[in-house]
Amino acid sequence: MGVWHDGMKVGIEQVDDDHRGLFAILRELDLAIRAGSAVGTDVLGDILGRMDRYAREHFAREEEIQREVGYEGYEENRRQHAELIRTLDAFIARFRTEPMDDPRVTAETIRSFLMVWISEHIVKVDRKMRGRILPWCG
Ligand SMILES: [Fe+2]
Repeated sequence: MGVWHDGMKVGIEQVDDDHRGLFAILRELDLAIRAGSAVGTDVLGDILGRMDRYAREHFAREEEIQREVGYEGYEENRRQHAELIRTLDAFIARFRTEPMDDPRVTAETIRSFLMVWISEHIVKVDRKMRGRILPWCG
């Protein structure tokens, strides 16, 4: 289970806070999955729904900051965000509608996918903002 660490720091307070928030929801999801049948499928669905909303809100905030300062990596970042939201929505739709699946297995697939995607995105894409966008922006 990955955690947010200093190596992921972008240096913009709002963005770093948001990234920690994403990891907090991933951790919550991890604990809920590990709790097994003690935690209902409705709870997993609720966490996934919050994850989806938070990711959208965060991406919008991050893109807004980049747009304001005319950041050169804006388009690429926006494209990646849109792709992630499409994939996440497809995963969540599957979680909600596929009766033959074990919801905990689907939730774990989503969790591990997001963990890898978010970690890599922060380190490889978002970290390029470091030093290019001033810390008080956002
Ligand atoms: Fe990003």
